[in-house]
Amino acid sequence: NAMLSWQRTAYHFQPQKNWMNDPNGPLYHKGWYHLFYQYNPDSAIWGNITWGHAVSKDLIHWLYLPFVMVPDQWYDINGVWTGSATILPDGQIMMLYTGDTDDYVQVQNLAYPANLSDPLLLDWVKYKGNPVLVPPPGIGVKDFRDPTTAWTGPQNGQWLLTIGSKIGKTGVALVYETSNFTSFKLLDGVLHAVPGTGMWECVDFYPVSTKKTNGLDTSYNGPGVKHVLKASLDDNKQDHYAIGTYDLAKNKWTPDNPELDCGIGLRLDYGKYYAPKTFYDPKKERRVLWGWIGETDSESADLQKGWASVSIPRTVLYDKKTGTHLLQWPVEEIESLRVGDPIVKQVDLQPGSIELLRVDSAAELDIEVSFEVDKVALQGIIEADHVGFSCSTSGGAASRGILGPFGVIVIADQTLSELTPVYFYISKGADGRAETHFCADQTRSSEAPGVGKQVYGSSVPVLDGEKHSMRLLVDHSIVESFAQGGRTVITSRIYPTKAVNGAARLFVFNNATGASVTASVKIWPLESANIRSFPLQDL
Ligand code: FRU
Repeated sequence: NAMLSWQRTAYHFQPQKNWMNDPNGPLYHKGWYHLFYQYNPDSAIWGNITWGHAVSKDLIHWLYLPFVMVPDQWYDINGVWTGSATILPDGQIMMLYTGDTDDYVQVQNLAYPANLSDPLLLDWVKYKGNPVLVPPPGIGVKDFRDPTTAWTGPQNGQWLLTIGSKIGKTGVALVYETSNFTSFKLLDGVLHAVPGTGMWECVDFYPVSTKKTNGLDTSYNGPGVKHVLKASLDDNKQDHYAIGTYDLAKNKWTPDNPELDCGIGLRLDYGKYYAPKTFYDPKKERRVLWGWIGETDSESADLQKGWASVSIPRTVLYDKKTGTHLLQWPVEEIESLRVGDPIVKQVDLQPGSIELLRVDSAAELDIEVSFEVDKVALQGIIEADHVGFSCSTSGGAASRGILGPFGVIVIADQTLSELTPVYFYISKGADGRAETHFCADQTRSSEAPGVGKQVYGSSVPVLDGEKHSMRLLVDHSIVESFAQGGRTVITSRIYPTKAVNGAARLFVFNNATGASVTASVKIWPLESANIRSFPLQDL
């Protein structure tokens, strides 16, 4: 146990021990952010799914609370699965969740707080008429789960919500209407369907403003609004989103760009990140995204460690500049963990160079780097023949091209026997123009066998006049990397054996053959978050 203890993260939320998966029903109530999550009280692998509960004043420091729901009824005895909260105008909280029944049928159930005046929402009541929804005709009994937060429908007092499913191999989002959250009617047609994408888990559906920089409440609609649809694909455990237009009256959402459709287009995160869900934070008028960061080591290692899986909140906004991407960014509260003034440096990097950046503890960092690429070289790429670059098939940061890779190396030991490069690589796109890729290379991240060693990543739009910029949150065994203000995001799980705690180092590098880059670096050491249990009477 002690051997693996350094892999435990310092500021990402995780249970004290044992397995967690999806974040559930995030909400803000009477001064507290509430996070519920899929949890196995008995083991560090999936099973006995129960709702864990934690609260925070700032989304960074957390208090563990007792479970809110355990699998104890015929309609959820095989698991209290994923669900979402809807807050009604009068303050009532409707929590709809999927139950796996005694017969392994997926049904939807209602729960609500026993006492709304309790800021901690410690006690929850399962509605006596549960289940409130069973799989409709034509839908498989194991293909009906994860209800969303509801939004207001066209008629007064009417609410709509969507539930993911599949018909044949087509992923679909079914829409139900309700006025009381106990009886529901399936609407004709579906919100959206994409052939070949399989079962849609954890559908998320929400408005984003095309004009303002604040987030929107789930029911918000009107001019200057687009709607995001996100599906988590059970078949490959990837989540995909698309931006589109929602026609409330017709019960239809249409993607802006059919090539970037939900289930086939952009991913929220190109690394280890799944089953995310957003909620509207009325305190700061923002939409906050939570995802589950699973483990990529072996099940036996997880059992030895005795805990698994963590997640971090991000704000999510429409990217006005591209019109195609969302922008994800760590919630600003993370900055409260920054210790002192940042280390600020400018480093000129010739082709094939690497430079150590001295920091006291490189295992817990917030890093911002922007790179200026030699303009003449950038022009030269148009003549280069490197078409069809992709992070995952590139062979990683050791493969050199004219204009890449260049970036940072995190969680490395002094001798670079363990290292994880996060980098840009500029190649020639199919249209003959420069195309930037953002990659995270785990191939040399650990000397331990049996841990994930992929190269993650995707392309990222870099617009005229923009520098190549990245922000990284380094937390022992997790690195979250955001390119171009959050247009492309990669979450890595890293299991170092040497590059741990004080032995971890940070470098900048330029492995391009044909260009110099100038890196402007800002580094903040981060302190650990306070994530703990406590005697309830102390509050
Ligand atoms: C996604 C998921 C959901 C389900 C839950 C069960 O990771 O499979 O579809 O409700 O996890 O734990």
